[in-house]
Amino acid sequence: MDREIIAIYPGSFDPVTNGHLDIIERGSGIFDRVIVAVLVNIAKDPLFTLEERLEMLRDATARWPNVVIDTFDGLLVSYAAERHARVILRGIRAVTDFEYEFQMALMNRRMSPGIETVFMVPSEAYSYLSSSLVKEVSALGGSVTGLVPTDVERHLKIRIQRKESGREV
Ligand code: PNS
Repeated sequence: MDREIIAIYPGSFDPVTNGHLDIIERGSGIFDRVIVAVLVNIAKDPLFTLEERLEMLRDATARWPNVVIDTFDGLLVSYAAERHARVILRGIRAVTDFEYEFQMALMNRRMSPGIETVFMVPSEAYSYLSSSLVKEVSALGGSVTGLVPTDVERHLKIRIQRKESGREV
């Protein structure tokens, strides 16, 4: 059987970090296609709009021809089935990620036994990295150089300056 293996890499990506890109690059080396799927309705109040999150992802992944960026809403497994994806790709940074990821993987399997969750481990340089920490450090004036693409760093600075000057978030 030589059917194309499509993997969905889902997330909030608010914003994309070098840790996400590390997983995307590893995934693109193994799967025929990686669809980075941005969740439309994040429960947490996002810093960046959906369009901004998509644009930053598109720029950061343009170098990998088998990586595409898309959005999804509703159940991840339904979206994966629509896109004929056999794999859900997730990154595991540390043991603390495991319980939540394990629950999601088993729930997703219960709903769609034909879709496998594949966990990949990012470089140890990013094992402590998260979008939330990047936003917090950036908002408090710390440097996030090397942790996010330069374009994302620029967007973060602009967003934070706007917040400080009392303009829109
Ligand atoms: O980057 P995140 O925020 O950790 O990603 C979480 C995400 C988007 C993978 C998860 O919230 C999700 O799959 N949401 C879609 C709704 C869904 O299918 N929920 C059931 C999961 S078992």
